[in-house]
Amino acid sequence: MNNITKGRSPFYPGQPVPVEFFIGRIKEINQVIRAIGQVELGKPQSIFLIGEYGIGKSSLAGFMRYYGEKNNHIIGIHVFLGGAETLEDVATKTVEAVIKSQIYEPTITEKVRNSLSRYIGKQDLFGFSINFEALKADAPNLSHGYLPFLRELFNRLQENGIKGIMLILDEINGITENEKFAHFIKSLVDENALSPKPLPLMLMLCGVEERRREMIKHHQPVERIFDIVEIKPMDEGEMKDFFNKTFNSVDIKVNDEAMSFLCHYSAGFPKIMHIIGDIVFWKDKDDIIDRDDSLKGILAAAEDIGKRFVDQQVYKALRSKDYHSILARLGKEKFDLSFQKNTIEKGLSDVEKRKFNNFLQRMKELNVLKSGDERGEYIFNNRLVRLYIRLNSLEK
Ligand SMILES: Nc1ncnc2c1ncn2[C@@H]1O[C@H](COP(=O)(O)OP(=O)(O)O)[C@@H](O)[C@H]1O
Ligand SMILES: [Mg+2]
Repeated sequence: MNNITKGRSPFYPGQPVPVEFFIGRIKEINQVIRAIGQVELGKPQSIFLIGEYGIGKSSLAGFMRYYGEKNNHIIGIHVFLGGAETLEDVATKTVEAVIKSQIYEPTITEKVRNSLSRYIGKQDLFGFSINFEALKADAPNLSHGYLPFLRELFNRLQENGIKGIMLILDEINGITENEKFAHFIKSLVDENALSPKPLPLMLMLCGVEERRREMIKHHQPVERIFDIVEIKPMDEGEMKDFFNKTFNSVDIKVNDEAMSFLCHYSAGFPKIMHIIGDIVFWKDKDDIIDRDDSLKGILAAAEDIGKRFVDQQVYKALRSKDYHSILARLGKEKFDLSFQKNTIEKGLSDVEKRKFNNFLQRMKELNVLKSGDERGEYIFNNRLVRLYIRLNSLEK
């Protein structure tokens, strides 16, 4: 197969992974399955899926939604709250998600849409449009009547054998800033628990730990609502499984040496795995990924992430010349991901030394570094970012 006849890439760098390409996460899945089982029996559950950017929260939520529909008769609504600032926005986006959701049984999809027909505009080539005017006008009521809205939806579907609702609130970055959101979530859960016949609701929030903390800061009792499912970087086995299955799905093989490079540089981050995989897929010419393909792909991926993230955010944010020279120093030092503050400090000029603490702080805010377990230890979050900075400083 050459580049011209290459088909579709099986990698999905920018979106939650389709169910058929979902890999691993057995432990987390089992944790959620237990909760789904409880909901099926009528007991509401609340879960917070926690993990860093690109670690696979939305993908796991999507997979669990699919699982719940298939095995437990739980209908899932996946609401992406990116851009939402008010509770009205939350209500609007929820209704939108209900209308747009594809449920495995078409008759149910139809029924759900019929019940919300007042918010559905004209049918066009791409399906239907949403009548945002009507939706906006009702939003204040909907946000107050959020639980009744879900309950009505559930009541309609019960006769179709539906046993519960999974409500996924994803991309909560913006909305958690709003103090009202924490209160809204807490009263949703309490109101439901205290009602004579609680709605079998599985509430699932997806976000980084800071967002959960932020909600707790706004309203302390939020801390007790959720069972936490933490998503960690994938282990070696999961990564190998991922690269093998994904490449094999398009009849490409990966040799051992290439595999160890792919895993090393992805460092367990599915998002990076997809970025590297995609580039390698297009670079390969003979359906066998060898050392050369993988290294070329990794360099190109570092370049890509570097141009988009490091140049745009890090170098720009660190305007001062001293910061740049500290960064270059870090790039030249020989370590993998983790370094000791002292060790680097030794090689710095006096001016740089004075700015070093602030520099490290900024790098943490920019998500480039995190603190390690040892005192004075700092760790690069991402091996490709580290590689890019290294290549840049060696070039200079
Ligand atoms: N279990 C998985 N198997 C395969 N690919 C995954 C898995 N989890 C995440 N991905 C991929 O990793 C990238 C980031 O996943 P995503 O779910 O969007 O992360 P998050 O929501 O935590 O930012 C996406 O490209 C997605 O396709
Ligand atoms: Mg996500």
